[in-house]
Formats: sequence, C-alpha cells, structure tokens
Amino acid sequence: MFEIDLQETAIIPLLHTQWLGKNYIYLPEIGSTNEYLKERAVQGNIPTGTVVATDFQTQGKGRLQRRWEAPPGTSLLLSLLFRPAWLAEQTNWLTMIASVAMAEAVEGETAVPVRLKWPNDLVIKVENVGHKVGGLLLEGDVGADGRIRSVVLGIGLNVNIPAEQLPAGVTPPTSLLAVLGRPVSRQALLVDFLQRVEVGMATAAAGQSPQAAWQKRLITLGQNVQVTHTGTKQAISGVAEGTNALGHLLVRDGAGRLHTITAGDVTLRMKT
Ligand code: ATP
Ligand code: BTN
Repeated sequence: MFEIDLQETAIIPLLHTQWLGKNYIYLPEIGSTNEYLKERAVQGNIPTGTVVATDFQTQGKGRLQRRWEAPPGTSLLLSLLFRPAWLAEQTNWLTMIASVAMAEAVEGETAVPVRLKWPNDLVIKVENVGHKVGGLLLEGDVGADGRIRSVVLGIGLNVNIPAEQLPAGVTPPTSLLAVLGRPVSRQALLVDFLQRVEVGMATAAAGQSPQAAWQKRLITLGQNVQVTHTGTKQAISGVAEGTNALGHLLVRDGAGRLHTITAGDVTLRMKT
C-alpha cells in the first residue's frame, strides 16, 4: 500500500488553482501517465489542465524510446494536459515553464538549488557535477494547420528514491532523499508545482516569454558540448553559447559556425 499523499482526497483540497489540476486523476499504477493522458486526450473527453499522477509506472518513458525508472511510491510521476492556441514550435515554452516551476518548487520545499541541463533534465550539482533528479517529456498532437490540438507534458522527479535504488544513467542520477538524507513531501511539491505552472502559463499567455528564467538555470551554457543526432549519428562539437526564444540551443563549432540545435532527436554530452 502507498501513503495517501498523492490521492485525490490528499491533493484537491490543497490545490488553489483556477484550472490546472481541477481535473486531477490519481492512479496507483499505470504503464505510463503520458500514454494514458494522450489516449484520453485523443478521445477528446477531458479538459485542458487535467493532471494525472501515479505511484508506479510499468512502462515509464523518457525521450527517444528510453525508459524512466522509479521504484513504487518514491517519486512524482505526472502528466499535464494543455490545449494552448500556440504554433507547434512554441510548445517548448511548456517545457520551460514546467522546468522552472519544478525547480522553484523544490527550492521552496528544500532549499536545494536546482539547475537544468538542456534540453529536458532537472539536475542538482553534487561536487560540481550535475546529477539528474528529474526529466520532462513533451508529446504534442499537431493539426494540419501547424497548431497544437493537445499537448501532454510528462514530468518525473526523484523525490524519495534511496541512493542504492537509483537507476543507472549516463548523467548520474540522484534524488532529494539522497541529497538531503531525509524524505520530502511529494504532496507539498506537487501542489506547489501545479500552482507555479498555472502562474507561468498566465504570464506566457500575456505574451511574456519564459525563456530568460529558464536559460538562467541552464548548466549547459558556456560548456563544451557534443550534440549527436540519434538517427544519422552526425555530431557537432562546440561551445553552447545560448538559446533562442524557442528554446533551441546555439552551439559555436571550432570553425566559428553557429548551429541551432532543436531537441527532437539529439543527445547532448558535456565535455569536461
Ligand atoms: P541523459 O539523462 O543521460 O543526459 P538524456 O537526457 O538525453 O540523457 P533522456 O531520454 O532525456 O536522456 O532521459 C532518459 C534517461 O534517463 C534514461 O536513458 C536513463 O539513463 C535515465 N533515467 C531513467 N530513469 C531515471 C531516473 N529515475 N532518474 C534519473 N535518470 C533516469
Ligand atoms: C527524460 O528525462 O527523458 C524525461 C523523463 C520523463 C518521465 C516522466 S514520468 C511521468 C511521465 N510518464 C512517462 O512515461 N514519462 C514521463
């Protein structure tokens, strides 16, 4: 049995949002919250702002068909449904808003600084090395007009995973428990996160880009990086100089050429 901290009765009374999470669905176990919400969204019978949370995923996924692993009852495993009137390329704003919201929620609850690794990782620096504490996965359904019909934003945060149960990863993983030596309330983090996302969406709807707040947290900038296309295996090495308004990474190679990298099918490694 799990703690009751993520169940509807534990979350809904604490959530002071206007629309995000007003339709809140808790599932003790599911394949993947993203897959679940995508299916429901295509069926069309659920509102924007629906949030799905689970205690365990049997088919949790990262980008590029990779797996997202988390022992039962230890993590935040969430998916959020949006139907913004945006062009497809602007959906990166959702990743920015949610990344910053989760970083701020963690910092608010624990005072542990959270940074971001482009394109979609939440990291905590341990002895100056970025350790992955969470990740985001955005999956959109785009119409023929280039506008978004629906988009599902998945986020996984390693809250109370004991150090010895952390999954293996190229970027070394960590959890809030491993960093702090004490468990952290998933309920408080979830509520704080959703409230911050709603505020971030309102700011974006008013026309203000979330890019500056997001870019400030990127540990990737100023670093030597290698970006490899997973399909073609083509690689670009250079210095990550910045990002553009859509969240693409700007990498200057050794010959001085500036490359604009979209997150789609690339893996980024930082060279030390
Ligand atoms: P990396 O995280 O290695 O830099 P990436 O960000 O390009 O790579 P993603 O597809 O975004 O990779 O993330 C999935 C990867 O995250 C998996 O391949 C695995 O290495 C790692 N991973 C899986 N579960 C967790 C977890 N709970 N905590 C941290 N890392 C995890
Ligand atoms: C990554 O770093 O590649 C992103 C990981 C995203 C994991 C979350 S957990 C909740 C949601 N459901 C999934 O299957 N994946 C996302």
